[in-house]
Amino acid sequence: MRTHAEIVGWGKHVPSKVLTNSDLESMLDTSDEWIKTRTGISERRIAAAKETSATMASRAAFAALEVADLSPNKIDLIIAATSTPDHLMPSTASLIQDSIGATNAGAMDINAACSGFVYALSVGSGLIAGGSHQNVLVIGTDTMSRILDYTDRGTSVLFGDGAGAVVLRATEDVTGVLSSSLGSDGSGAHLLWIPGGGARHPASLETVQNRMHYIKMNGNEVYRFAVNVMTKASLQVVKDAGLTLDDIELFIPHQANIRIIQSAAKSLKVPIEKIFTNVERYGNTSAASVPIALCEAIEQGRVKAGEHIVLVAFGAGLTWAATVIRWGVPAVAPRLPWWKAILHRFRGQEAAAKSLARRTGRKIPR
Ligand code: COA
Repeated sequence: MRTHAEIVGWGKHVPSKVLTNSDLESMLDTSDEWIKTRTGISERRIAAAKETSATMASRAAFAALEVADLSPNKIDLIIAATSTPDHLMPSTASLIQDSIGATNAGAMDINAACSGFVYALSVGSGLIAGGSHQNVLVIGTDTMSRILDYTDRGTSVLFGDGAGAVVLRATEDVTGVLSSSLGSDGSGAHLLWIPGGGARHPASLETVQNRMHYIKMNGNEVYRFAVNVMTKASLQVVKDAGLTLDDIELFIPHQANIRIIQSAAKSLKVPIEKIFTNVERYGNTSAASVPIALCEAIEQGRVKAGEHIVLVAFGAGLTWAATVIRWGVPAVAPRLPWWKAILHRFRGQEAAAKSLARRTGRKIPR
């Protein structure tokens, strides 16, 4: 019997600071009206000075582990999808592994930009299907505000910060990830990129003066590419899962631009009610966008056991990725049993204990 990887835990973290379109009006030559009508975005979250891709990811991971009722030391592997790692080296996943106390886990990053979470989900589920892994933590996390040029109105209004995580667990049931498709067209690398800071143009006075450490983008080209690959990849994974579009109850697309999402829906002939969006409140959080949207779809009661969901994303590379999931577990908002913090501490999982205590607003008795 084939082993499948099902999602048994989920969690998100977004910074508390909100940057609204009217805030941006006072920083740039832009308007709330332009941003809303061209992108659908009203506001986005911005990381506090001490927040990073690793810290946000750790908080999302704790939330996901709580839902899965899984101790961090039971995780075999952490895959962090990010294009804003805390450092070029070591991986952000290793920092997360240490901070959540996942003492038995391997750790690695995947950089497929905004497609990263769906790529990571495919890799994690493949390792589970192959039999070598039981529990894999898959995270999408990005601190886009650190790589945005707030003098460039063409890019800085689009992105925000955040993290989302899921726990994948091996199951013999035909549930979880049913099919995946990953794609890349590197000939479009320069359409969405950060030219400086890597091995080709290492950080120097010149790269800093030329603002080469910020995102550069050709918005129109990326837009055309996005609609095309979202359609293509969705059709592919639905076919590979042995399903038709009518069998899909919910589409969770990468939240980059409401117009891209609407155009893809139109080209797929999928009613807009079947498509989850939250781009209005978070903007494009890159690799975090799909898992944050998944968490919010669950919070809103839009995910039910037995239903089929398509996750589809596109991003720098250029890359794209899609997957079909048959949801297997009750998708209810987790209750946070504060007393479990005592259990975590008793087991030596101090970081998990503190995270739960913070989220429940309770002190752990000594
Ligand atoms: N505020 C006001 N005006 C702006 C602006 C802003 N924030 N950004 C650009 N403009 C201006 C342009 O300078 C241009 O002015 P001009 O006609 O005087 O030259 C005008 O608005 C139209 O620009 P254009 O780029 O044609 O707008 P658009 O309708 O294509 O929308 C994007 C631009 C970026 C919103 C759109 O192309 C897009 O979403 N692309 C995909 C980007 C994306 O998703 N990237 C991430 C992928 S993971």
